[in-house]
Amino acid sequence: MADPKLTAPRGTRDLLPEDAPWWERAETVARELAHRYGFSRVEIPLFERVELFARGLGESSDAVEKEMFRVSGARGSDEERAEWALRPEPTAGIVRAFIEHGMHVRPGPLRLTTIGPMFRYDRPQAGRYRQFTQWDVEVIGDPGPAVDAELIELGHRFYRDLGIAGVEARVNSIGDATCRPAYREALVTYFAAHTERLTDDSRRRLHLNPLRVLDDRHLDPELAAGAPRSVDHLCDACRAHFETVLRLLDALGCAHVVDHRLVRGLDYYTRTSFEFYVAGREGQQDALGGGGRYDGLVELLGGPPTPGIGFGIGLDRTILAMQAQAVPLPAPPPLVAVVGATDDGVARLRVAGALRDVGIAVRPDGSARKLGKQIESAVKAGARWAVIVGEGELERVALKDLASGEQRDDLDIPAVVAAVRLT
Ligand code: HAM
Repeated sequence: MADPKLTAPRGTRDLLPEDAPWWERAETVARELAHRYGFSRVEIPLFERVELFARGLGESSDAVEKEMFRVSGARGSDEERAEWALRPEPTAGIVRAFIEHGMHVRPGPLRLTTIGPMFRYDRPQAGRYRQFTQWDVEVIGDPGPAVDAELIELGHRFYRDLGIAGVEARVNSIGDATCRPAYREALVTYFAAHTERLTDDSRRRLHLNPLRVLDDRHLDPELAAGAPRSVDHLCDACRAHFETVLRLLDALGCAHVVDHRLVRGLDYYTRTSFEFYVAGREGQQDALGGGGRYDGLVELLGGPPTPGIGFGIGLDRTILAMQAQAVPLPAPPPLVAVVGATDDGVARLRVAGALRDVGIAVRPDGSARKLGKQIESAVKAGARWAVIVGEGELERVALKDLASGEQRDDLDIPAVVAAVRLT
């Protein structure tokens, strides 16, 4: 047992070799789809000024108010003494980079994507971690509504390509600066009449940001069901936008339901908001991913008025869903062991090199153990073939099929390559 002081921090997980095929599959599909949808990769720092998150995500969001993972570099210059936090999400940082690099002058709309770890100091539980990984996409400079539907369709395609069945998008519109104030007022009036049924958190946030009350995990369901709905308060422009998004989703055949309670946990959202769930499990399980439009964020952070929309898909939860549904993973390419008991290891490394030159995955055994032992280890390591390097010419080897036990002697390297490629 490891020293308890030296175990992984609570709410974090080590990725072990047996987890790797799941992560590689999810990341490969995400990167490949991002490419196919015209996104370019960006990378931003893992930590930024606290102020960026406070302004961008909102002081009253859980991510800022309760879950901020602060880091300090408390020394020297003002820059070093600034308050920093590990990023709880990447949208604020990407928008900061967009402004900082004057990217608004580039031919837009810009399509940016990143995959990486995010940090929220939340209470850990199944599917909720203090360090987790998101696949994020952002489209900056496109007012929609076509792109809104396109991103929801992209999310659907991602889950479908991974083989996860029954994913549904829950969508809502939470209005904009024109119509949101009246909606907020309606929520305050409604909940203020029922403060005794609210959690302490919600009572405190009611006047600060009543949308947070609707988003409270512990909100009384009956009270939630009777709450004013944002769709009933949309201005004409927001209503037309939302209706078009829904019509496009129908036309694209994207499974979705309108969820009037969906307000999202971050303050930058405007208009279209959405989350992905495995249908029927939305009560018991957190979202697999979520996103929405943030038409005011670029300006809020000091840039020119620019619309934006994006999503973040939680890869940890996506992988849990893949495992729960036992989706098949593509077979890995066959592994070839190179063994030999008569050389000093050089011949084995040379043969390994020749096979790697043509793209074959190779695990040479450099030991001086008996051939039988080396082959036993190769089987345990998951090798499909063993190339046996003998005493004679380097170019002549034996090839053992570790599945059938069959062995062919005196082959040249091209014959080995041809046999391996047939598996
Ligand atoms: P979010 O809804 O806060 O949105 O997070 C997106 C996804 O990240 C969630 O649906 C979930 O799958 C995953 N996630 C969040 N917190 C945790 C956690 N503690 N443990 C495991 N997974 C988690 C955003 O972050 C926005 N930046 C999305 C976005 C991009 N909106 C516009 N552009």
